[in-house]
Amino acid sequence: MISPIDVFNSWVLNGKDEGMQKNHSIAVNSMIQMLIGKSNKEFSFIDAGCGNGWVIRKINLHDLCSYSIGVDGSKNMINKAKKIDPSGNYVCSDLIQWKPKEKVDFVHSMEVLYYFENPSKLLKNIYDYWLKKEGTLIVGVDFYKENLISHSWPERLNTKMTLLSKKEWFECFRQAGFSHVQLSQINSGNDFEGTLVIKANL
Ligand SMILES: C[S@@+](CC[C@H](N)C(=O)[O-])C[C@H]1O[C@@H](n2cnc3c(N)ncnc32)[C@H](O)[C@@H]1O
Repeated sequence: MISPIDVFNSWVLNGKDEGMQKNHSIAVNSMIQMLIGKSNKEFSFIDAGCGNGWVIRKINLHDLCSYSIGVDGSKNMINKAKKIDPSGNYVCSDLIQWKPKEKVDFVHSMEVLYYFENPSKLLKNIYDYWLKKEGTLIVGVDFYKENLISHSWPERLNTKMTLLSKKEWFECFRQAGFSHVQLSQINSGNDFEGTLVIKANL
């Protein structure tokens, strides 16, 4: 088995990182709408597992975004993000131990959390060190128990993934301390159960 970071390092070498922007855009656009909505206050933003940084470049265009930072464990992803956007903030680090210098209003993460053996541990780090008091976290995952077509992915990518049900995801967020944990499924169709979106407050 290959580590998820090595898988994604290799994706940059063959340009597969760009496919993620195409495939995740619909869900991410809805997630950003759910996160920021009609808010008229300035906000700061972290993308946890930002890949090549496309969500950071998108959010930086928002009039009310005062600061944003993308974090990813893949050196190749972060080098690519910095090359495309030299003035953006991108950091290469394992999310499990990274802490921002200042807490933010919003944390977003798309298709990242199931690469952790114990997602609650990462959620606890976010809860304790990343978010301001009134902060909100939004997470999207396509790999979950009820989405049967996703079950073959660990074998296909030859890497470890943690398969949880909707109820188990809910419990992970609660275990980490989050309140107002809300689950929804978006963009479902054919055999795809939809992206499981989990939104929670501190
Ligand atoms: C499926 S990609 C999603 C990337 C991006 N969110 C997007 O939608 O395009 C998963 C990302 O999680 C990152 N990742 C996986 N495990 C990580 C870890 N332990 N620490 C930091 N990043 C990690 C990978 O490097 C990869 O860029």
